[in-house]
Amino acid sequence: TRVAVLASGSGSNAQKIMEYFKGHAQGEVVLVLSNNPNAYVLQRADNFEIPTHVFTRHEFYQTDEVVRLLQNMQVDVIVLAGFLWLVPASLLQAFPNKIINIHPSLLPKYGGKGMYGDHVHKAVLANGEAESGITIHFVNEHFDEGEIIHQAKYKIEPSDTLEIIKLKGQQLEHQHLPKVIEGLLSKMRG
Ligand code: GRF
Repeated sequence: TRVAVLASGSGSNAQKIMEYFKGHAQGEVVLVLSNNPNAYVLQRADNFEIPTHVFTRHEFYQTDEVVRLLQNMQVDVIVLAGFLWLVPASLLQAFPNKIINIHPSLLPKYGGKGMYGDHVHKAVLANGEAESGITIHFVNEHFDEGEIIHQAKYKIEPSDTLEIIKLKGQQLEHQHLPKVIEGLLSKMRG
């Protein structure tokens, strides 16, 4: 089964996925795509000798170039790992129930437009939440919606800073995302 990763930034989750599926019998990462030519994720993919592709806003929303590339590469599953743009309907239609996203909160809490990165964790702290977590879900035409596949929680101590809860969330993401993808791939093979 062939996996593509879309990421806009650092790509620490992409890194974990590439590590996990390196030499894996059932799945491989065949392509890493980004809207950001300076994204560190591209460097990480190079280190794994995984092909990369950078696209512009115009290409993504006004042409079918990205859809065709993913089809030509015979991609089965697309993972959004810190990808900040809304997925266009044409891409959703070409890969129905095959696109998943990871989000650093317990959706439906702290999701939606503008809720990414530090914004999420700042809001969680401002509301005095006693716990937060991560969500892995199918992607639809809205930010951070679509059927939830998996969630995991962590506790927030009163003394926890922004940096600490960020780290707690990131550790959970790194632990859970590769395994959830693996589960999805084995389900898809039936
Ligand atoms: C993660 O927190 C993910 O949940 C969110 O964006 C962040 C990406 O981090 N969608 P990284 O680029 O994988 O380090």
